Amino acid sequence: MDLLDTRIYSLIGEEGFQRLVAGFYRRVASDDILRPMYPEEDLHGAEERLREFLIQRFGGPFRYSEKRGHPRLRMRHAPFHIDQRGRDRWIELMEASLAEANLAADAIPPLRKFFHESATFMINRHG
Ligand code: HEM
Repeated sequence: MDLLDTRIYSLIGEEGFQRLVAGFYRRVASDDILRPMYPEEDLHGAEERLREFLIQRFGGPFRYSEKRGHPRLRMRHAPFHIDQRGRDRWIELMEASLAEANLAADAIPPLRKFFHESATFMINRHG
């Protein structure tokens, strides 16, 4: 984790993460690749899990782990078919949300770095 990572929460606050993740799931809701992958009919639960995970990862309260335990994200993604195409789409939607969320400029590079690295790490199917 970079030194700056734990400062992101104080830079953009709950509201920054809220805007970013809301924008992301608004896009997922009409996405031909990602929407069918989500098991629940309602995306609100998934939106809350991603938001609380990011808040925790970037210096905010540990609500994610209080509710869900250790993140172990790669393991939690194992049931889903994540290939390069899905990974690239995830990043595309997150980049569009980053561009729209009006976050403090200093917060963008560490968030982007984390998203690109972790999304690649989540790939569990090839071809
Ligand atoms: C930066 C990369 C990623 C992060 C930080 C991330 C984060 C998360 C988190 C925190 C959850 C909820 C885990 C739980 O508590 O159960 C989740 C669920 C999920 N993710 Fe990801 N994810 C990433 C990449 C991806 C990619 C690339 C895909 C597909 C292409 C994907 C598809 C899903 C699906 C289908 C779920 C289940 C929805 C749910 O019930 O929560 N994720 N992800």
